[in-house]
Amino acid sequence: MDKPWLKRHTKALDRIMDEELAQWHFDPTKKVTEYIVVGNIKSAVGPEWDRIVRFAYDMDLTIEKSSIFDFTRSEDEDEDIEIIHNTDIIELMGYDKSSASQFKTYSDIYPDLFYPILREFDLDGPTGSIIHQKPGWVCPWHYDMFNFYVRKYRVSDPKLVRRYLIFMEDWIWGHYFLVGNSVVHQWRAGDVITWPYRMRHVSANVGLTPKLTLQVTGVCREDSAVLTRSASLAGCPASPDPADGDESPSR
Ligand SMILES: [Fe+2]
Repeated sequence: MDKPWLKRHTKALDRIMDEELAQWHFDPTKKVTEYIVVGNIKSAVGPEWDRIVRFAYDMDLTIEKSSIFDFTRSEDEDEDIEIIHNTDIIELMGYDKSSASQFKTYSDIYPDLFYPILREFDLDGPTGSIIHQKPGWVCPWHYDMFNFYVRKYRVSDPKLVRRYLIFMEDWIWGHYFLVGNSVVHQWRAGDVITWPYRMRHVSANVGLTPKLTLQVTGVCREDSAVLTRSASLAGCPASPDPADGDESPSR
């Protein structure tokens, strides 16, 4: 098949496509919406919402900075993105430790802080994390393998794991999220999105203020038609085939 965009591949992309071409279209010209809008969680969380956002905002003072390059293949490391197995690909792309930095913390460390969020998701084994990205920091193009989660909760198939991204503040210029071919922006505080397993995504702060996001990860209950306790969130969204994008915009 003739794919003119192949001509501008980098070595990193060639390696990624060798492995993943059966998983996704790898066609940057395709106009598709490749994420799912779940709803907005802010009002369901209630007054605790502001406390959680303040905590996230202050993480540059309270949490030690990490970088995606800090994570290794060690069994003890709590990270589950492809990058831990392919740091050399990220280096091939041109990233370094400083551009791929983040302040990140987990619900295991702050269970009380995360409880008002996690209780809204009708998931088995819900866990959460908060990521604070300063201007200039990015989380490069990757997909979530859920290796750590699958190991910890003995999940039989990583496809059963669902991850939700919650935006903690209203969108402002320079804060971006890319899912497949779809740029996500102009979100409101509390908006929740998700995307199919193995869909590649990027988080970038090229703006003026910290970018604050919350991730919730868990196993969708097969016997439940409702994903969340919150009436403001939609039911369990079906995971579209990442190789067969939805042509209609969802927001
Ligand atoms: Fe990710």
